[in-house]
Amino acid sequence: MLAVAVLAAGKGTRMKSDLPKVLQPLAGATLVERVLASCRHLDPARQILIVGHQAERVEASLAAIDGLEFVLQQPQKGTGHAVQQLLPALEGFSGELLVLNGDVPLLRPETLEQLLAQHRSSGAAVTLLTARLADPTGYGRVVADAEGRVSAIIEHRDCSEEQRRNPLINAGIYCFDWPRLAAVLPLLTTDNDQGELYLTDTVAMLSPAMHLEVADADEINGINDRLQLAQCEAVLQERLRRHWMAQGVSFSDPTSCTLSEGSRFGRNVQVEPQCHFRGASTIGDGCRIGPGCLIENSTLESGVEVLYSVLRDSSVAQGCVVGPFAQLRAGARLEAGCRVGNFVEVKNSTLAEGVKANHLSYLGDADLGANVNVGAGTITANFDGLRKHRTVIGAGSKTGANSVLVAPITLGARVTVAAGSTLTHNVPDGALAFGRARQVVKEGWKPSA
Ligand code: UD1
Ligand code: CA
Repeated sequence: MLAVAVLAAGKGTRMKSDLPKVLQPLAGATLVERVLASCRHLDPARQILIVGHQAERVEASLAAIDGLEFVLQQPQKGTGHAVQQLLPALEGFSGELLVLNGDVPLLRPETLEQLLAQHRSSGAAVTLLTARLADPTGYGRVVADAEGRVSAIIEHRDCSEEQRRNPLINAGIYCFDWPRLAAVLPLLTTDNDQGELYLTDTVAMLSPAMHLEVADADEINGINDRLQLAQCEAVLQERLRRHWMAQGVSFSDPTSCTLSEGSRFGRNVQVEPQCHFRGASTIGDGCRIGPGCLIENSTLESGVEVLYSVLRDSSVAQGCVVGPFAQLRAGARLEAGCRVGNFVEVKNSTLAEGVKANHLSYLGDADLGANVNVGAGTITANFDGLRKHRTVIGAGSKTGANSVLVAPITLGARVTVAAGSTLTHNVPDGALAFGRARQVVKEGWKPSA
């Protein structure tokens, strides 16, 4: 039987942030969400998060996860002290305890599986993950023999010069036999540079203690500061891009683009430089995106082209062309074959098939019928100072340049709005509507010299 405990009570002093460290985001998910996700497939009987610093905030961020237990560590006196807090919660539990550091977010699920398998087959009291690093600065060093038996872990700050040259580091991921760990936890002391209770000290008290060295040292990157956060983001982004390239997405300048875990791509998608995909976005087959786009929580059907534009919480159907310099905001819905051009903003509006809004417009809270042609500079005046109102434009209508449609207003089908009009009343099907002063010409106005 397996229990998992994630250490997430620390403050993360070295981040110099108001946000608890484990809530820092990485490619759209927090560190602690990533750590919890890395062990989900092991189907643990118990899943416990040890919280302390800003505990309520950390708990609230994870409220949606079923069956997650929280144990409070107050004050935070080290990783060993954190695990001591489990003694009441795990009383009588006789299985393995997998301990994960809340700030080691790149672990692959397969690596944890391997750790557990080796731990079970060897019968060790503890098995920990290690890596050999070119620059092991900051990590605990693992003293081990050629058979993989560990005799001690010494924290970087407690190491001698010579011990610091040892490249084998502790990843902060351990599989313990819980009853044996529980027996030695009360024996920990604060005899170290930080005056804390170190979980790592239990390893010297447990026998046999074994280690499993990971092949890809990137997996066990721990995050203590913003530099390491950025390095982990780079590793994740590289993993995501490689994954999608293997699925048939082309990036002309991969490292200039960022993806989120929730982004999905069809086949033959071409992504030009400087494109960023966030949240849950789906990009259909054959889309051409970029250069210079931000696409967040949006769905693009096949064959859409987007150039230098920002799309958020929007949906774009087959064959639409968006940009350059367009903004689709929450609730923008473009049906097939629409064209939204430069300096056009669309919010909470539906554009039926074949609508063209090519230049300098604001379409907010509007419903446009099929093939409406929106003249340059057309504005839906949707806000009366208190409330938002809708604009409805029937199929085949055409607004002239610089039209202001004051909502609530309904234009019928095949309406023509004269350029420069401000309309405040509904217009029936097939009509021409003017809403502007007639041109007046006064001849001889300027006396000739
Ligand atoms: C720890 C290990 C070190 C290892 C490194 C790997 C110890 C003593 N050292 O060092 O050997 O190489 O991780 O990344 O364990 N936490 C609590 N309560 C506390 C203190 C910390 O829950 O009282 C949590 C933190 O929130 C964090 C994790 O434990 O998620 C690790 O703590 P941190 O202070 O970052 O340990 P390191 O110095 O990185
Ligand atoms: Ca750490």
